[in-house]
Amino acid sequence: MQELQTILDDALKSFAAINDAVELENAKARYLGKEGSLTGLLKGLGKLSAEERPAAGGRINQVKQQIEAALHARRESIQQNALQAKLAAESLDVTLPGRNSSAGGLHPVTRTLERIETLFHSIGYDVAEGPEIENDFYNFTALNIPEDHPARAMHDTFYIDDQHVLRTHTSPIQIRYMQAHMEKYKHLDAMPDIRIIAPGRVYRVDSDATHSPMFHQVEGLWVGERVSFADLKGVIADFLQNYFETKDMQVRFRPSFFPFTEPSAEMDMSWKGGWLEIGGCGMVHPNVLKHVGIDSEKYIGFAFGMGVERLAMLRYGVNDLRLFFENDVQFLKQFN
Ligand code: FA5
Ligand code: MG
Repeated sequence: MQELQTILDDALKSFAAINDAVELENAKARYLGKEGSLTGLLKGLGKLSAEERPAAGGRINQVKQQIEAALHARRESIQQNALQAKLAAESLDVTLPGRNSSAGGLHPVTRTLERIETLFHSIGYDVAEGPEIENDFYNFTALNIPEDHPARAMHDTFYIDDQHVLRTHTSPIQIRYMQAHMEKYKHLDAMPDIRIIAPGRVYRVDSDATHSPMFHQVEGLWVGERVSFADLKGVIADFLQNYFETKDMQVRFRPSFFPFTEPSAEMDMSWKGGWLEIGGCGMVHPNVLKHVGIDSEKYIGFAFGMGVERLAMLRYGVNDLRLFFENDVQFLKQFN
């Protein structure tokens, strides 16, 4: 059968020319599909006589097997080609230097906090903490800021509800710590000194180059039988010298007012030809001691509260405090 040979040649030739899996399946249909030429020949077998049929059928089936074998071989080689192309495209130059995942580092504010803690630790201060959501009593009332007192307006407070605020300063930790301290030592005749710092996040409705709505303060508190304003100045001056690693500090104490200290002062440092306030301080007001059950005739103390970002700004020469919280990696990387 001349026709069979033509079909076989044609099939082998067209398979060999194809390089795509889908095209190959379409080509297969032309020979072996329902309407395929070989299938047509098989269907024609019915017209042959019973004597001719076995031989013709055998020949057709032989060609069918040859076509199927060619098809399988072509399928395999198309698959292999695709794999080779993929491997070549994704080839890896093992001689290139590796791409490191960067290790990350501490945030400059965290570094500053750690530095402050280390320095105060070295002069015998413990670290205390308190909740960021405070109630009205600890944030204001116990600090001698009664309801309706104008000093409440000094803090642009984020209220959670009538009774709860995002703490506007770290001073409520003073109250919590003094209460716990009194509870712990109530069986003793004399109260051991309180000497703590209390770092933490605080919140105010405030935003410009030197103010952020979330910032950090570090509170300091020393209460004992003989604590003076001179001690306060000494501790702060000493801290600043160590923190900035220079004795040549441009600091000034400016008389001020806080309901929870008397007398009170604010501390400024030289910045951009002027002054930048870094914190408030003073002698703990007797009313505050009374609120926590400490005998204000026997004990006296000082307290301070410093802005941590302000200290970081001055140390690192950053001119906009909000940069600390924009989380620009290029900016933050400089401190590691
Ligand atoms: C207080 O918050 C007092 N509790 C400090 C204090 C504690 C006084 C103990 C006496 C005894 P003041 O509102 O001034 O004070 O804030 C203290 C410091 O926090 C400021 O000097 C400043 O350095 C920093 N600060 C205040 N508001 C912001 C702000 N929005 N962003 C960044 N830092 C701020
Ligand atoms: Mg102030």
